[in-house]
Amino acid sequence: MTVYGCQMNQLDAELVAEVLRSGGAEVVDEAARADVLLFLTCCVRGHAEDRVFSNIGALAARKRRHPGLVIGLLGCMAQQHGGAVRRRAPLVDVVCAPGRLAELPDLIARARAGAEATALDPPRGRAGPDGFAAADQALDQVEVRRLVGKPSAGHAYVTVMRGCDNFCTYCVVPNVRGPERSRPPRSILEEVRRLVGQGVRQVTFLGQAVNQYSAREDGRRWDLADLVVRAAETPDLSRLSFVTSHPAAMTERLAAVFRDVPAVAAYLHMPAQSGSDAVLRRMNRGYTVAGYVERVAMVRRLRPDIAVESDFIVGFPGETAEDFEATAALVRQVRFAGAFVFKYSPRPGTPAAERFADDVPMAEKRRRHNELLALVKQIAAEEKGRRAVR
Ligand code: 5AD
Ligand code: SF4
Repeated sequence: MTVYGCQMNQLDAELVAEVLRSGGAEVVDEAARADVLLFLTCCVRGHAEDRVFSNIGALAARKRRHPGLVIGLLGCMAQQHGGAVRRRAPLVDVVCAPGRLAELPDLIARARAGAEATALDPPRGRAGPDGFAAADQALDQVEVRRLVGKPSAGHAYVTVMRGCDNFCTYCVVPNVRGPERSRPPRSILEEVRRLVGQGVRQVTFLGQAVNQYSAREDGRRWDLADLVVRAAETPDLSRLSFVTSHPAAMTERLAAVFRDVPAVAAYLHMPAQSGSDAVLRRMNRGYTVAGYVERVAMVRRLRPDIAVESDFIVGFPGETAEDFEATAALVRQVRFAGAFVFKYSPRPGTPAAERFADDVPMAEKRRRHNELLALVKQIAAEEKGRRAVR
């Protein structure tokens, strides 16, 4: 299995291994020995996709020698390309959306029998969250019963939310991971207890905008703060964190867990994306630069040693030299402990790709990328030194 992409994909890879193992398969590391080759992929940015298609293409000779070889394309990229995958990659036998991974053994059996083996999520507009409920439950069951691979690592990811409804204009996630659904608290808490029973000591809650977590159970509403407080009561759990937080949804109530709950890590991943209000507006991010800075200040008031990290996109449509300078200024002002910097890449089907011309030339995107990354690294190193001294 080859895995590309975010933490959510890393967790999906564990779920794939679990469904295959419980379906009677042996999961091997070396691709040379395998008779099923799976690509679990991300389509959030462009270059990963091209790499995947070329890696699959390179399997042509092997497939000719071993016609029984099953090749599967799983995850966001499978959902994004859907049935069209086979036009670009005719060698692919199995196409499976991230929400349908529990059906994988069945899909592989169908491919071996020469039948159609595609499982995609319903289009989000038509299905609504209810259209995802059965598949979500199947996935929850796989996740709860999974055995963590290396208890020595002592760390595990736990899904708390799936999908996203924020529709940041550049982002393909709302299309490929469906509408926002929060997992029931009971199921999450049970999973945490089981993981700790297996030797896990550190848990990271995962959601695209994890701090928008909202569930009803036993007649009451749960937000992320409720969930974190309860999970942290699990005996022997020593560290709890959550990613990724959306700035617009960062509340004082949630920030208080950084002060009040000792197991909560002093770490916040809260992507700013840009330091220009005009760009943030076109990105549909729902906050201003001042609002972002204020939320960081709020969190730091409650937990002064907190490491705040961000993501940035450079070269978003219409990003001027001044907009980019404003982003650099934000990095200098907030002094992030780290940040990922991405060059904007138009994703088919997103509002930005449809409405805005991709008008920052690649050479300029590269220049801004390098410059911002150098600044981020310099400040992160200085901050690390400061932390070490303290
Ligand atoms: N182009 C470049 N970067 C993107 N990201 C999401 N979509 C795009 C895109 N179309 C970045 C954002 C997000 C991270 C996971 O990927 O910064 O926070
Ligand atoms: Fe994409 Fe925005 Fe949702 Fe994050 S919050 S997954 S960037 S739409």
